[in-house]
Amino acid sequence: MKTLVRNIAQLGGIQSHNKALRGEAMADFPVLPQAWLVLENGCIHAWGQETDPKGLPQADMVLDAKGATVLPAWCDSHTHLVFAGSRENEMVDKIKGLDYAAIAAKGGGILSTAKAIAQTSENDLYAQAMARIERLVQMGTGAFEIKSGYGLDLENELKMLRVIRRLKESLPIPIRSSFLGAHSYPLAFRQNHEGYLQLIEKEMLPAIVAEGLADYVDVFCETGFFSLAETKRICVAAQEKGLGVKLHANQLSAMGAVELGVALGAISVDHLETMDAASINALANADTIGTLLPGAAFFLRQSQPPARELLQAGAALALASDFNPGSCPTGNMNLVLALACIQAKLLPAEALNAATLNGAFAMGLQKEVGSIAVGKKANLIFTSPIPSLDYLAYAFGDCWVNKVMVNGQFI
Ligand code: NIG
Ligand code: FE
Repeated sequence: MKTLVRNIAQLGGIQSHNKALRGEAMADFPVLPQAWLVLENGCIHAWGQETDPKGLPQADMVLDAKGATVLPAWCDSHTHLVFAGSRENEMVDKIKGLDYAAIAAKGGGILSTAKAIAQTSENDLYAQAMARIERLVQMGTGAFEIKSGYGLDLENELKMLRVIRRLKESLPIPIRSSFLGAHSYPLAFRQNHEGYLQLIEKEMLPAIVAEGLADYVDVFCETGFFSLAETKRICVAAQEKGLGVKLHANQLSAMGAVELGVALGAISVDHLETMDAASINALANADTIGTLLPGAAFFLRQSQPPARELLQAGAALALASDFNPGSCPTGNMNLVLALACIQAKLLPAEALNAATLNGAFAMGLQKEVGSIAVGKKANLIFTSPIPSLDYLAYAFGDCWVNKVMVNGQFI
């Protein structure tokens, strides 16, 4: 079954690469004006220009895009979207002047979401996460990575990962899962790091791998959370069991997390708000992707990652939401794109590449999604009429995504 989509004002993101885009190449987001697109069995089959004298191709069905700009759907490679409860009280406390330590002392932070997770059933968590995803797909996201990390014990980490597995099984979009048991030391192990590391190595990882529940391991490598040595130990144990590595790196301090991630061959190191020369150099020639999360830096009033320096050094950058109740209570990738440009100074074309193809690479999904390429899934954004692609980042706070297609079907 062939569908011809015609009357596309601009068809953006036409590219296929074996490696993530990096450095200067990120400024090229290939666009075809006045285009048509042929889909076959839910996948991208061919494209061309309406002005071509050869005319339009034959198809079983014709869809009029009515002047929409058509793009690959967003690939959100870093989310914590399985959670319970919300933490707007912490936002208010911060406005009143409380710092992170004071909020944690009041029982806030990651551990308060962990408490809420422990009190919520697998079915409820699944329903809540599903509702979030359905809204985000309407806003243009066509692939997700989702982390555990609010369980912090065997039972609740498994509960979160089983929710992610159910989401994978029931949704028509690709989802990757990461085991983030090393998100925070739970209270019972505050003075006994060795005990928690052993729990991760001897109980959590074997159970997770036996059920095939995770594609990646992730660690919050940060002063006061997991040290370099602890992070390395967890990642190596997970790699020996066949998992890839992602890291929360250089969010609050430049303590060597990026360099460690690169040395471990991590698929991505994420956050990068506090970079120094050594961490920028480490990413310059690495296959490891640097994932920027400008929504979290914005919400926490931190400086944005040094995107221009990273690109000048030749790094490959992705953009993701970090959707979670503590540091970024939105998964709206349209806002993330705007923040990346307005605050972190990516060019719109760089941000579009970072939020689509490089996001797909940061999840190992580059063969399935992230660009207009023959054989990739037709997971596509159809915008309202817009004057240019730059407009998407400029006219922030509104959603210019009009319709979304998943596997060739409007949803
Ligand atoms: O990516 N930095 C660590 N983890 C999350 C925040 C988690 C939370 O506060 O609940 C992040 O920003
Ligand atoms: Fe995160």
